[in-house]
Amino acid sequence: MAFPKINPTTTKAWIKLEEHYAAMRGVKMQDLFANETGRKERMSLKTDLVSLDFSKNRITSQTLDLLQSLAEETKLDEAIKAQFNGEVINETESRQVLHTALRDFDAMKPEVNATLSKIKEFSEAIIQGTHKGYTGKTITDIVNIGIGGSDLGPAMVTEALSYYKNHLTVHYISNVDGDHVCETLKKLDPETTLFIIVSKTFTTQETLTNANTVRQWFVQKAGENAIEKHFVAVSTNLTAVAAYGILAQNTFTMWNWVGGRFSLWSAVGLSTCCAIGYAHFEQLLKGAHQMDIHFKEAPFSENMPVLLGLLSIWYTNFFKAETEAVLPYTQYLSKFVDYLQQASMESNGKSVDRNGTPVTYQTGPVVWGNTGTNAQHAFIQLLHQGTLLIPTDFILCTDSLHGKKNHQDILTANCLAQTEALLMGTYGEDVANPYQVFEGNKPSNLLRLDTLSPESLGALIAMYEHKIFVQGAVLNIYSFDQFGVELGKKMANRHLINQ
Ligand code: F6P
Repeated sequence: MAFPKINPTTTKAWIKLEEHYAAMRGVKMQDLFANETGRKERMSLKTDLVSLDFSKNRITSQTLDLLQSLAEETKLDEAIKAQFNGEVINETESRQVLHTALRDFDAMKPEVNATLSKIKEFSEAIIQGTHKGYTGKTITDIVNIGIGGSDLGPAMVTEALSYYKNHLTVHYISNVDGDHVCETLKKLDPETTLFIIVSKTFTTQETLTNANTVRQWFVQKAGENAIEKHFVAVSTNLTAVAAYGILAQNTFTMWNWVGGRFSLWSAVGLSTCCAIGYAHFEQLLKGAHQMDIHFKEAPFSENMPVLLGLLSIWYTNFFKAETEAVLPYTQYLSKFVDYLQQASMESNGKSVDRNGTPVTYQTGPVVWGNTGTNAQHAFIQLLHQGTLLIPTDFILCTDSLHGKKNHQDILTANCLAQTEALLMGTYGEDVANPYQVFEGNKPSNLLRLDTLSPESLGALIAMYEHKIFVQGAVLNIYSFDQFGVELGKKMANRHLINQ
């Protein structure tokens, strides 16, 4: 089965969506809610780990039917099968896209299993202190040196799961800014620090520059022979890792069929695994796998990632919304938006379709946001009273991890109040002061987790991964390459030569 290559604008559904949009443009959600009993119940979905209330969208059941027809006409079902079956759907780079295979314990590839065992063994030796540094001390600090997908995913997950963390302190060096490196090194003792160099290609300028600086600092203090106890690497490029002087036993393999921005489930997550322990890391993978099964098996009308992807297309292409906000109401997810920006924008920031033709429609929206309630005191004004339409995802955990029910009650009340205020505005109220009028009718999704656990986090991340896949598949673009980052890299090199 080939990856479909259908221009979505040539489908019957797209034409009908255009007509439908003309009718929906003026429809107010406030009226939809007033006239439809059970809207919220009908427009809610639940999996074991994540639930979604999508009733506060500018949609009717007809919109949903049409969006579903769009998915059918663009053969989304074939695209999903092609991905999971390991077809070479990343055609521009001739690669499979199989990050889902990293979390499928029932059908695990032997090489994935072997690497997972190595991750387990190594992380346990670090955590339990059986792995000693060059002076016989145990490791207290771990430094992940990587950028993009080799940084954002693990950094986000380690932060998100800090409740489950052990005694190890984990640092992330990504920026080639030497001050970033020096500020981190300032806090470290070479005798008790482990450095993980993470680079899928092992050619990334920033990562190699940072790794060299760190290595120099280390060798000056500890000597060359100490490297083997303090430096490990994660990469597909085993030759370059060996040439760099890292022993095979200290090298963790990843594969070309794992995209950098989808790699936190691989050995790229080694720093996370050391921080939270293998059992939690495995739960993260298993939670993601549950979402994979949902995505693969649920009919489109009940499929969370499919629905979220189609809603995004509805707003981006018909309402001409240019951005989407994501507001997690838990401080643990303070790095979630950074992570999501790469996952979404590096994937779907494309303007040539899968037939090699420039697109005539919108592809990936700008993704941005911050944690609530901080966002409420920063930019939410623009969502309520600005002129731009910004569909927003609210992410809320029912229970906090440390108790403090009074805080959680306030947090929850604020999150729910924002979704309600965006929906209702001051509709139906007689507000004399024009500056105090809220139009409402602003779309939002409410995603809920019971608590932030490794499993529920895994499912949440996988849900967004699949949403991104749906957007790209239906919009007929290649989501798994990133040629757009290359030109700047070349130009930077030219500037370096000229300096
Ligand atoms: O330049 C972009 C990019 O290739 C990302 O896709 C990737 O996550 C990042 O650089 C880091 O690449 P690597 O893991 O090969 O160092």
